[in-house]
Amino acid sequence: MSVHIGGQPGDIAERVLLPGDPMRAKWIAETFLQDAKCYTQVRGMLGFTGTYQGVPVSVQGSGMGMPSASIYTHELINEYGVKSVIRIGSCGALAPDLQLGDVVAAIGSATDSNMNRSRFDGLIDYAPVADFGLLRTAVEVAERQGTAIRVGPILAADAFYTDRPDLYDALADYGVLAVEMESAAIYTIAARYGAKALTILTVSDHIKTGAKMDSAQREQGFGDMVRIGLETAIT
Ligand code: ADE
Repeated sequence: MSVHIGGQPGDIAERVLLPGDPMRAKWIAETFLQDAKCYTQVRGMLGFTGTYQGVPVSVQGSGMGMPSASIYTHELINEYGVKSVIRIGSCGALAPDLQLGDVVAAIGSATDSNMNRSRFDGLIDYAPVADFGLLRTAVEVAERQGTAIRVGPILAADAFYTDRPDLYDALADYGVLAVEMESAAIYTIAARYGAKALTILTVSDHIKTGAKMDSAQREQGFGDMVRIGLETAIT
């Protein structure tokens, strides 16, 4: 086992879906995977491996925020040989024309986090980006499934609650679609250690209008996103 994951080598598939919420990992495993087995409960951050259409897939909770997501991404790739990581999660919309339930694929991830600045000694603004092959596959899968998918840049923020909504307006002016809290770190770590990464999100709230999904909308919307993520993972 690694420091934060209780599985043995071989317990985790090369293709991993990475929801932030461990209970969502459980729901995905129980709802979408065959023969799913829990391989870790360390710190309540559940992980499961099963098969999807006959292909081994794991689903690992990553927790909230970049420090937590970094730990799981790093250990999955470096200790368990994971080759592709697809974050699935929720986001707050910044683009005025996004609606609750819309699915977003993050081509790149701006961030206010210091994690990448410190990697490059404050001298480079590294641009964390999605793996192009995974992104293209996700778009094709969504089209086949009849789910609209919006591709564009997002913001990975350190704080859920902000005192600077003006910065969110400025980012929207530059075409940034939405805000979440993990993608920049996941993209960076995957790039650093030779794995592929993609982030697919469902709009759960709108920063400008204050609209929020209810639980029924969440389940349906998240189901569409999970199907895109799983189909992309096994392609
Ligand atoms: N995830 C879902 N909604 C969010 C928001 N408004 N800010 C950051 N992350 C989010």
